[in-house]
Amino acid sequence: MKRRHFLMAGAAAGAALAAPMVLTRRAIAAEPGGPLPIPPLMDVDGSAGNTLTARAGTREFFPGVSSPTLGFSQDYLGPTLRFAKGRAAKIAVENGTDAPITAHWHGMHLPGNLDGGPQLAFGPGETWTPELPIDHPAATLWYHSHVHGETATQVYRGLAGMILLDDPEIDVPLPRTYGEDDIPLIVQDRLFQRGVMTYDLGHMDQMAGFQGSDILVNGTLRPTLTVPAGLIRLRLLNASNARTYEFGFSDGRGFQQVASDGGLLPAPQTLTGLHLSPGERAEIVADFSDRRAVRLVSVDIAGGMMGGGGMMGGGSMGGMMGSGGMMDGASGTGDMLDILSIEVSQQPARVSGPLPARLPADLPDLGAPVRTRDFTLNLHAGGMMGSMFNNLVGRDSQTMGINGSSYDKGRIDFHVPLGETERWRINADMMAHPFHVHGASFLVSGMGGQAVDPQANGLKDVVHVDGLTEILVRFDKPATDEAPFMYHCHILEHEDRGMMGQFTVG
Ligand code: C2O
Ligand code: CU
Ligand code: CU
Repeated sequence: MKRRHFLMAGAAAGAALAAPMVLTRRAIAAEPGGPLPIPPLMDVDGSAGNTLTARAGTREFFPGVSSPTLGFSQDYLGPTLRFAKGRAAKIAVENGTDAPITAHWHGMHLPGNLDGGPQLAFGPGETWTPELPIDHPAATLWYHSHVHGETATQVYRGLAGMILLDDPEIDVPLPRTYGEDDIPLIVQDRLFQRGVMTYDLGHMDQMAGFQGSDILVNGTLRPTLTVPAGLIRLRLLNASNARTYEFGFSDGRGFQQVASDGGLLPAPQTLTGLHLSPGERAEIVADFSDRRAVRLVSVDIAGGMMGGGGMMGGGSMGGMMGSGGMMDGASGTGDMLDILSIEVSQQPARVSGPLPARLPADLPDLGAPVRTRDFTLNLHAGGMMGSMFNNLVGRDSQTMGINGSSYDKGRIDFHVPLGETERWRINADMMAHPFHVHGASFLVSGMGGQAVDPQANGLKDVVHVDGLTEILVRFDKPATDEAPFMYHCHILEHEDRGMMGQFTVG
């Protein structure tokens, strides 16, 4: 057991980073290290021949120990897909696995029949060939399988990848040389048993969602990234099943957030800590012109029940289950997790000097909402004690829900008129949940009567809901009964257990 101590300098913006000044690193089995792999880039345009093949594979996360995995055209994860706004993108997705899959384009504005949601699952040996009209501001998005009841295990094993969407009409004054000064970082926690990647829901994970003990970046444990000296853009994707991160640098240096889920912010915002819940993305720019090596770290907020904001009312669950009982294993430790080591080469970066004060953000004018909808995310849909028991023993796959009902693929929960702005008020029940909507980006307009957290600025498609959160959303793409849009918690274990609903737009 190796414990490394280091000092977090500088005041942190996030409460979690601000708390402990001397932090210990969680002990982890081995030190694999190695250079950060950059997923290959696949430019997807109107030409034929862009194929993603979902398939089984194996990967040695620990040298000499192979783990069974899934990937898109690779053993684990998939290539980074690059789309250009205003162009069509033709892609063939082949299912070379032995179970149904989907390819959901998370965050993209597409009609329901192209969205890759659970209703569009296709079986082994089948190929799905959507032609995607790319109509979305420049952004960092992602894709993953989305088969109801299987999303957690399929994404865990590797059926996910990043999407970069470029707008050829806009000159973005940011580092943008892929893999050199514009770096994809797909962050996932995993559990290893004797070096084998294992999906094993512990007692607490049954309810809070899976928590792994080791962090992978682009499928590699504690890798090292070597960057040129200057400004570097990091595209952070939290592709974990349930873990929330509070990212920062080991020396406490500040950085600038330049984009959130759905695209650029109107102006860079300076942070020392960045909160990212499952499904969320953020682009940050950090300055490495001092050539000092540093680590990207995260506060270990293990345990979704404490996920960034803690349980509502300070622990109704703890009270119910007896204090010192189930909460203990899951509460945040305040320890730091090493995510990525960064070393700086002698080479100067392409971009140095300050970022412009304004960015060419592409935010819609949503106007005033014409109606309001209310959602409560329920850890227990139906009989409280019975479903709590089932959740604890993992017996019932459909015990969570929204507004009292678990997901039913045969039930359309509501219909939204095309092109009308709505206010959605989302309430979290007992713990914080990352709420996600398909088919549009939204703006966060309120957080329980308090000012909106700056990290929820810009276009979002996932919002960390801890108490009441209000969003403004307008759907400009249709979705029919056959291929409705989903709204759900992006803790994948919650989604698979029924914390999801579906709606049509037209
Ligand atoms: Cu990331 Cu419904 O999806
Ligand atoms: Cu999605
Ligand atoms: Cu949830």
